[in-house]
Amino acid sequence: MSSPPAPAAISPPELVARARQALGFAYARYSNFAVAAAVIDERGRLFQGVNVENASYGLTICAERAAIFSAVSQGARRITAIAITAEKTKALEPCGACRQVMLEFCEPGTRVFLDTGTNEPIERTVGELMPHAFTLKDVPV
Ligand code: THU
Repeated sequence: MSSPPAPAAISPPELVARARQALGFAYARYSNFAVAAAVIDERGRLFQGVNVENASYGLTICAERAAIFSAVSQGARRITAIAITAEKTKALEPCGACRQVMLEFCEPGTRVFLDTGTNEPIERTVGELMPHAFTLKDVPV
């Protein structure tokens, strides 16, 4: 039996566009700072996420983690590309907690696209964002 065709690759500007598409769903009533992300999993599936704030501020979850956790919750185990956009900031850099979560599900070479507001996002890799990191390899099991 043949396997289903591989999903068409999504270009960086397209992935950024999918992140932008989710911005309106951000629940950012305390900071009024909407952030959204889009990620692709190992099966080529797309997942979007937004920041979700809380009256108990520290419970807020960032858009990047919301997107990755959504993917993992639907069976993803590897994330192959990430795009991030924010309403009021160009080329928003992901926070440290999100970088740590990226490491768990990405390769060091996985590309992270930061929306510049143009058709040319800034490109980083997870390894650039989080060098010398604590990962699975450091956990004594
Ligand atoms: N935020 C994100 O969603 N992603 C980041 O990488 C940085 C910060 C959100 C969290 C909070 O809702 C708002 O931005 C202000 O910190």
